[in-house]
Amino acid sequence: MSKQTKKKQKWVHKDLLGLEYLSHDDIILLLDTADSFREILDRTIKKVPALRGKTVVNLFYEPSTRTRVSFEIAAKRLSADVINIATETSSVRKGETLNDTGRNIEALKADVIIVRHNCSGAATMLARNVNISVVNAGDGWHEHPTQGLLDIFTLRKKFGRIEGLNVTIVGDIAHSRVARSNIWGLTKLGARVMVCAPDILIPPGIEDMGVSVTNDIDEALVNADAVNVLRMQFERDEKAVFPKQLEYFKKFGITEERLKKAGRDITVMHPGPINRGIEISSKVADGVNSVILEQVTNGIAVRMAVLFWLSQARENNKNETIG
Ligand code: CP
Repeated sequence: MSKQTKKKQKWVHKDLLGLEYLSHDDIILLLDTADSFREILDRTIKKVPALRGKTVVNLFYEPSTRTRVSFEIAAKRLSADVINIATETSSVRKGETLNDTGRNIEALKADVIIVRHNCSGAATMLARNVNISVVNAGDGWHEHPTQGLLDIFTLRKKFGRIEGLNVTIVGDIAHSRVARSNIWGLTKLGARVMVCAPDILIPPGIEDMGVSVTNDIDEALVNADAVNVLRMQFERDEKAVFPKQLEYFKKFGITEERLKKAGRDITVMHPGPINRGIEISSKVADGVNSVILEQVTNGIAVRMAVLFWLSQARENNKNETIG
């Protein structure tokens, strides 16, 4: 019998800009690596030397609690040095562009820039202008790849698989980078994704991403293994097109009654921050089927995996692709 040799998965990406640009195997590699790092987080000494001597810079042009802190903890667990730049107190206030800021961070010999920006495509533009790695921590309405990965990681931990799962995403699909990253990642791994929102919050052509669409919350829940509840993004609602908050909760809010009506145990997720009483009731958010805080913890392991593989790509001098 011939001996089968397992092909070693290669990571070639200089940057992490979106799940759209990763293959099925890239995503599995990140999830499997995150599994090993997740175990480290429960040890007494939660630190490994993988990124010793490396410097990670958090460059956030938008507010963040979970993503910024999670990246900082992830980098520190890997023994990297971490610098946080608050754009309000940096030279961004004097008119410095994102590209110039990035090139100066590179000149300061950092190895990775984690960037959050309100413009879709900002992380991609920065990645094209610096030789060091760039991680998209959320760009406008485009993608939030590490949130997508940590959501998928949490589902895989809970169900042991992604293929064949029915995942419903409810809420502000139109403005949601989290929805886009989840859709790219989940469909690549074989999940069935349904999105549910009022018409004005469904972007035209979303079906082309391989999802089904409904305005009926009961239909969205009846076959769901998990529901990912999105935050209503009032800060992006320049034209005030959202329905009134109470009206939204009445029609689309995730409540105990709605989950009970579906007649099955539905795992409840939310990327945070939560608007209690607007998209989700407190009882559901804090209930037995909620994995919202597990998502937050798992985010550290996923971000450790991302930082680890980006650093491996640099070490191996395989900076061939943007993706
Ligand atoms: N989920 C998420 O991106 O949260 P923050 O805005 O707090 O980073």
